[in-house]
Amino acid sequence: RPGAAAWVPDRLSLTSLREAVQECRGCELYRDATQGVMGDGRRDAALLLLGEQPGDREDQQGEPFVGPAGRVLDDALTDVGIDPREVFKTNVVKHFRWSGTRGKQRIHQSPSRAHVVACGPWLDAELRLVRPIGVVILGGTAGKAVYGTSFKVGEARGQLRDWPESFPVARPPEWVLATTHPSAVLRADDRRSAYDALVADLRVAAARAA
Ligand code: URA
Ligand code: SF4
Repeated sequence: RPGAAAWVPDRLSLTSLREAVQECRGCELYRDATQGVMGDGRRDAALLLLGEQPGDREDQQGEPFVGPAGRVLDDALTDVGIDPREVFKTNVVKHFRWSGTRGKQRIHQSPSRAHVVACGPWLDAELRLVRPIGVVILGGTAGKAVYGTSFKVGEARGQLRDWPESFPVARPPEWVLATTHPSAVLRADDRRSAYDALVADLRVAAARAA
């Protein structure tokens, strides 16, 4: 298989995955990134949160959702009664894709379909390791990665669904729920209502997880 499969270790642990992703050459994104960012959180989490790719801050620190979007996400989880320390957070692509800079910040570029497909074996490994009952998809890029290019987060958000056959994984979760990406809340004209909509979707996941 092309892509990341050759770098995924046989013995799965958070540590073995974190070390192995640093060697990955499954696509070219490793070249311009500081490091690979594997998922982080509880190994026995019931809930896995799936973002797009590490941002500028995550690329530097080597951990997912440690920047501004991560703060929005943790606030929203807390608001629906989910302890952010009890979940597992990861991304469909493990290296930061960027082009050019704005001031000191590097400008984020969404991963292509080829990057998402190449990186799939890492998510498969995380699902085998953590065995979450539910997956919350954050935003359109992660949604398209899982459900295919016709996925529209605006139409799909807030509904419980099954993991699709179009993204075969060894250990699919029992249910999936998509919502908007927390960074879209930060970019929204009306942040308050965008945040409230994120919280409303997460409430559905919290009720299903309870
Ligand atoms: N946005 C994401 O999708 N993932 C992160 O880890 C940080 C920001
Ligand atoms: Fe490997 Fe994914 Fe990084 Fe590409 S983005 S090099 S497939 S870890």
